[in-house]
Amino acid sequence: MKRTKVLTIFGTRPEAIKMAPLVKEIEKNTDTLESVVCVTAQHRQILDQVLDLFQVEPDYDLNIMKNNQNLWSLTSEVLLKTKEVIEEVKPNIVLVHGDTTTSMAAALSAFYAKIPIGHVEAGLRTFDKYYPFPEEINRVFADAVCTYHFAPTDKSCENLIKSQIPKEHIYKTGNTVIDALLYTVKNYEKDIEGLNLNPDLKTILLTSHRRENFGEPIKEICKAVDELVKNNKNIQVVYPVHPNPNVQKPVYEILGGKDRIHLIKPLEYAEFCTLMKKSNIILTDSGGVQEEAPSLGKPVIVLRDTTERPEAVEYGTVKLAGANKEIIISSVETLLNNEDEYKKMSEAINPYGDGLASKRIVEVLKNL
Ligand code: UD1
Ligand code: UDP
Repeated sequence: MKRTKVLTIFGTRPEAIKMAPLVKEIEKNTDTLESVVCVTAQHRQILDQVLDLFQVEPDYDLNIMKNNQNLWSLTSEVLLKTKEVIEEVKPNIVLVHGDTTTSMAAALSAFYAKIPIGHVEAGLRTFDKYYPFPEEINRVFADAVCTYHFAPTDKSCENLIKSQIPKEHIYKTGNTVIDALLYTVKNYEKDIEGLNLNPDLKTILLTSHRRENFGEPIKEICKAVDELVKNNKNIQVVYPVHPNPNVQKPVYEILGGKDRIHLIKPLEYAEFCTLMKKSNIILTDSGGVQEEAPSLGKPVIVLRDTTERPEAVEYGTVKLAGANKEIIISSVETLLNNEDEYKKMSEAINPYGDGLASKRIVEVLKNL
């Protein structure tokens, strides 16, 4: 029997975390599926960390990352270089993930080659084209050119139906990030070498990297954290700082060298999961972290005004604070000082998945 050749294309850390369990599941089904993996390496070091952990060996590595890259060159590099791969591999289906520039440009590339495309984590929306930027338009675009839509939740399915995607091409699968998280938490516990956290203090984990937070907003976030630490002697902050120079510069300028604030390098996924488990509160503008934290029972204060992940807000595990200093401070202090509030936010269930999303997607691929 002829096998279905599946070309999976991804390029950044979050795509790799969310695609690795799927690649592994495709590889378990070699009787019906043939897996080919192409990484654009839109990210380099923080992509490689994930490939190593999940032991994914790419067949193609386009190695496109440049320091402080811009959207124009990134888009054209992905488009041109994936063209060559698609022409050589001649896949039956291309899989892309989510909303990055790699996802959007790789989807466009496959569309030009008239290859059917599957979109993993389809249907997320804020309905505001500049928040998050450029991700909202990247995912609308990917959904428009893809044929098969693997949507994580009921809400994402509804968004796709509203966008005129035929119902028979929408599959509710859960989010593969929960597959990755549960696998990692079960198999790897990894403390961060050299990070001496005080066990008597409460730990706040912070991540921030969004383009719309560059400039004043990220400074405002840092000032909020600085003030929180000054006013609450019982807390410590750990911030694995994203390698983007637009993040590194203001963060080290405002928070560098401060007592009880640990600025550290981006963590391997196993270390990050262990740190999430050990933290009391998470402050983040990350998409993936909003989905993971509820599984670990951690309250999340989101450093954005809108989210394409409204489920967790509705379930009560996540609260939006934007990059507003006063709201960030009061949200964190409420969680620190009000046990009932903390309990309410940390006991909610996870709406994003059950760890079986990759299996569901592979069932669809096998039956195409
Ligand atoms: C990208 C995605 C964003 C996603 C985020 C996850 C786009 C436009 N943005 O944003 O949707 O949420 O990844 O982290 O697709 N860098 C390194 N080493 C690395 C990775 C990045 O040095 O391993 C530095 C480089 O200078 C690079 C810069 O960060 O040019 C920006 O990387 P880029 O992928 O363009 O943007 P992100 O902010 O990471
Ligand atoms: N993450 C990690 N190490 C870190 C910070 C984050 O492994 O130092 C993981 C995190 O658990 C989540 C993913 O990276 O699965 C999120 O990536 P990021 O915040 O960069 O992107 P987003 O999800 O916002 O697109």
